[in-house]
Amino acid sequence: MIEKVEQPTVNDGYRNFPMVPKVVFGKGSFDQLEQILAAERKDRAPFVFIVDDIFENQPSLVDRITLKFNDKLIFASTIEEPKTTQVDEIVKKIRTEYKELPSGIIGIGGGSILDLAKAVSIMLTNSGSASEYQGWDLVKKKAVYHVGIPTISGTGAEVSRTCVLTGPEKKLGINSDYTPFDQVILDPDLCMGVPKNQWFYTGMDCFIHCVESLQGTFLNAFSQSYGEKAYDLCVEIFLSDDLTAEEARAKLMMASWHGGMSIAYSQVGVAHALSYGLGYVLGTKHGIGNCIVFNHLEEFYPDGVKLFKQMMEKHDIDLPVGICSQLTDAQMETMIDTALGLEPLWENALGNNWRDIATREKLRELYLKM
Ligand SMILES: [Fe+2]
Repeated sequence: MIEKVEQPTVNDGYRNFPMVPKVVFGKGSFDQLEQILAAERKDRAPFVFIVDDIFENQPSLVDRITLKFNDKLIFASTIEEPKTTQVDEIVKKIRTEYKELPSGIIGIGGGSILDLAKAVSIMLTNSGSASEYQGWDLVKKKAVYHVGIPTISGTGAEVSRTCVLTGPEKKLGINSDYTPFDQVILDPDLCMGVPKNQWFYTGMDCFIHCVESLQGTFLNAFSQSYGEKAYDLCVEIFLSDDLTAEEARAKLMMASWHGGMSIAYSQVGVAHALSYGLGYVLGTKHGIGNCIVFNHLEEFYPDGVKLFKQMMEKHDIDLPVGICSQLTDAQMETMIDTALGLEPLWENALGNNWRDIATREKLRELYLKM
């Protein structure tokens, strides 16, 4: 009998995780992009801008992107969350059009676009399909230089070490040391004009990150320090009447950053696990999916859910109901499998014996409430 010996990885002890090395913050800072990119431009190698297609007819943003030489602008749809096939198509397009690897990839948009840009930059230097890298530490080669520029706040995608993709078999991120952006530009003015519901759902993604991190069993001083700050900012933004719109935009951008940093060294929990199930089977988007789920999680997060309901009421937000009532048995089983497959999330939320609490029956009962 030959015993298989697993090679230890750098993350077997305390996690040694990379952070975004360069960040610009401030209103109007988007205009510094050209100057920032100039230092990174390689001979004959273009910059490829991946921009949310909601901006396609908005000259206020697009006209401020300077394309030079053979630079390319790709408008990507976010009607659905990013798929591994969408990543593979963009990579193929870039490889067909250019002999050289791009100087860099710049993602401008919400969490979906930021994740798409991260995935494309990884797949330009790694062979095969993006679906082969969904998981933890499967990426072998350093990604192409990549820049993230959020236009809505809350997901934490601008700081995270993952890019969540829906693949043929699962909805799971490419978690790797090469995933985080090399540069982020935080310009709160880019978040002007976000529709109210979208603003709320995405902002609540941040609030839920904080609750799940702060209530989790993986909590430590690192996560707590970021999580508490982001939590307080969310309460101020969504429940006080003292902030101007401009202050609220700037604060939510920093809440998103801190919320993302908080889960980097801990984990999310029940809401995210169940929301991934909704996303995989019904295509429910992350922000609204988290809200639909969190609304029914009083037993796990009593204080957080109470505040969440106050925030919903204050901003007059409605959530869809009965979204799981028409599911077939097979769909329900897939949804439960997807949620329960996210073991670290459950372990963080409920401890080592999570399987005794998060039973298939319990999950079915929760889904049927939504
Ligand atoms: Fe999230």
